[in-house]
Amino acid sequence: MKIITILGARPQFIKAAAVSRLLRRSMREVIIHTGQHYDRNMSKVFFDELGIPAPDYNLGIGSGPQAAQTGAMMAGIEKILVKEKPAWVLVYGDTNSTVAGALAAAKLHIPICHIEAGLRSFNRRMPEEINRIVTDHLSDLLLCPGRTAVVNLKKEGITRGVHLVGDVMADALAYAAKRSRNHSRILEKLGLAEKKYLLATVHRAENTDDPARLRNILSAFSQIEEPVIFPVHPRTRNCLAAFNSVNRKSQIDNLKFIDPLGYLDMVRMEQSARMILTDSGGIQKEAYWLGVPCVTLRNETEWVETVKAGWNVLAGADCKRILKFVRSFVPPSNRPPLYGDGHAAAKCVTLLK
Ligand code: UD1
Ligand code: UDP
Repeated sequence: MKIITILGARPQFIKAAAVSRLLRRSMREVIIHTGQHYDRNMSKVFFDELGIPAPDYNLGIGSGPQAAQTGAMMAGIEKILVKEKPAWVLVYGDTNSTVAGALAAAKLHIPICHIEAGLRSFNRRMPEEINRIVTDHLSDLLLCPGRTAVVNLKKEGITRGVHLVGDVMADALAYAAKRSRNHSRILEKLGLAEKKYLLATVHRAENTDDPARLRNILSAFSQIEEPVIFPVHPRTRNCLAAFNSVNRKSQIDNLKFIDPLGYLDMVRMEQSARMILTDSGGIQKEAYWLGVPCVTLRNETEWVETVKAGWNVLAGADCKRILKFVRSFVPPSNRPPLYGDGHAAAKCVTLLK
């Protein structure tokens, strides 16, 4: 059976690393990289580090406005689907690459498998929310990371083809956690000690493209008494440059801006942080699985179970709230397992078969 997997953005490479390895034992996989992410440290580093097979096709679409980027991806994907005639198209998550793959496949009547189906923020101002809703409504096999996702789909009338499999990011993390402790030298390189720093990431459009929100977040970071290490996503780098905050970086001496990290270094940084401050979906879950308290720089989250469990708090882009949580948030002593048992990829492959 031939499967076409559509990838494009950083978290999708990490998810595919967990699935492709198993998929290829029993199926022929053809990978299309849309080129949505293209910097070496946003794309190739993950293929190299995680042994993801090189893409069979790279569309090289690059960056652009929402519709232009999604439309260009659809046109490129359509041509390949017509030529390759796969039995299924596999898409991950909620990016423009996800929805482009789903739309192109649906119109060619090729069944779609969506890994990480059913997530909702209930905030339609996020491009990701639109991508999730459209992709789920077009998919034939909807593989959900948690129970809330199954319930969300049911509320939208989607019950056929829905399966609770757990989160393939947990599989990826289990694979990387030990390796990263043994191989990553990032703490030494940055001169950091265990639990003596905070790790921060910010890349959501709602934060980066709103100067007031971004300024509030940076203001909070700069008032924290401990070192804050901030691997800067290229979107954020551009926004910081645009309103000239970058010029202030030398004055913020507890706050260290660094380039985006490879996955093993990132996991090492997460494991050893006292706390994580983020607006990333993937990193909220990784913080939970690694037992690191997380302050989410958003007003809502799709990963509500981590909040209910008491390990994740929503601070929005409110400077005072962020500082309050950094100084006083203590999670409970128990941390029930969430989003599966680290064997989600095997379940996805079995269901596809
Ligand atoms: C995308 C996803 C988001 C996901 C994130 C993961 C959409 C709508 N958003 O957001 O859900 O959480 O990826 O990281 O699909 N850029 C570079 N080099 C790169 C990639 C991007 O310089 O390799 C810059 C460009 O200026 C680009 C901007 O970053 O315009 C944003 O990139 P884009 O892929 O459009 O969205 P992300 O913010 O990365
Ligand atoms: N990540 C990484 N290097 C970084 C930042 C993030 O390897 O510098 C990993 C992170 O550990 C997680 C994934 O990228 O596995 C999350 O991707 P991102 O935050 O870009 O997107 P989201 O999950 O919000 O869609």
